[in-house]
Amino acid sequence: MDDMTARAQAIMRLNDRGAYTVPTSGLYPFQWNWDSCLSALGFQHFDEARAWTEIDTLFAHQWEDGMVPHIVFHRPDDGYFPGPDVWRTGCMTPTPTPTTGITQPPVAGFCIRRLVDRAADRALAETRARALLPQIHAWHKWFYRHRDPQGTGLVAILHPWESGRDNSIDWDAPLERVSPEGVEPFTRKDTTHADPAHRPTQGQYERYIRLVQHFRDLDWDNARLHDASPFRVVDPGFNAILVRSCTDLAALADDLGEAEIAARSREFATRGLAAMESLWSEARGQYLCHDRATGRAIDSPSIGGLLPVFAAIPAPRAAALAARIAHLGEGAEYMVPSHDPAAPEFDSLRYWRGPVWLIVNYMIADGLARAGHGVQADRIVGDSLRLIRESGFAEYYDTHTAEPCGGSTFTWTAAMVIEFLTPISRPGDTA
Ligand code: DGY
Repeated sequence: MDDMTARAQAIMRLNDRGAYTVPTSGLYPFQWNWDSCLSALGFQHFDEARAWTEIDTLFAHQWEDGMVPHIVFHRPDDGYFPGPDVWRTGCMTPTPTPTTGITQPPVAGFCIRRLVDRAADRALAETRARALLPQIHAWHKWFYRHRDPQGTGLVAILHPWESGRDNSIDWDAPLERVSPEGVEPFTRKDTTHADPAHRPTQGQYERYIRLVQHFRDLDWDNARLHDASPFRVVDPGFNAILVRSCTDLAALADDLGEAEIAARSREFATRGLAAMESLWSEARGQYLCHDRATGRAIDSPSIGGLLPVFAAIPAPRAAALAARIAHLGEGAEYMVPSHDPAAPEFDSLRYWRGPVWLIVNYMIADGLARAGHGVQADRIVGDSLRLIRESGFAEYYDTHTAEPCGGSTFTWTAAMVIEFLTPISRPGDTA
């Protein structure tokens, strides 16, 4: 085993709490939804059963309505804010373990298909996938029922934390409309663990918490939240992840003889892909977010508009994204910046306003490779590994200097490194 893989595995073991991993101790002391699913891919290379356990644990806390929460608060920890006392979600899960009341990018369908495709232990993989299949499908149905009540084919996020790209420039205008008035006094903990210059601002946090209070006042009733939320945004990246997961779940359901799940999942993916076209911006050469509260596009060139290459978008769109990524690569030392460095709001250190994240790199590289843009995919993989060599396993990195940002010894960064050091899918692989 090479040294980088050994270091990555050691970090994953360090953050392993038995049946789930924490993203990093201190800053994020619980189980996060998309962190766990993507980390399972890394576990598979050295402990296949442990990979499945990671996802099983997450889905053991699925809400009765189908939602899969963004955080599961397995053990009390005062080092994090906002904890269960702020969320107060009540008894929405089959377990007494508290969770948050919002969700995160649905990568689970994609991840379990990949786990099954590469399984050394096929019997184990089929048993675990067969059990997870209806749970993941229930989550996908939840999205289209509660986050797309008008049946547009595209789902909305109701809180910036749902996107996973918490303080993206994409959310500046819609979040500005969320009045912080009435926010309960609070003390942040994140800035005691990480450099405040790398984290969201106080003004953003006030609005994040105000939204939580708003949803709490509606008793976390998902039938009401969408229309009542002042923040309702369609993120192309989030939708692309959902479409890819639906496509992958359909393929898996076919293999496992679950015809109904396969048909419904394929239907979701087809409608989602067709609707994605409405988010394309010819002027930007990429997709843009859509503010469902105002009915207008959000003209913000972020990585959310590049992520659709992860789904089976039409070949000319994939080629245009590859060209856009190549263009960004001329101005960035390390790909892929989470926001266009030429934009005035770009901030090379602050979380999702510029820095490079390996999980997004992984998804974009995978999509580019599948669409036949291997040169761009290889550049992204190469840059990702250079970042690790230069700066270790950080949460994210400055796109120009490789400065490590946010938390350190980060689980999903380690998992993605293990993935990058094994071949990724190429055209001709099962679509
Ligand atoms: C945080 O606490 O910063 C998380 O990103 C919320 O999910």
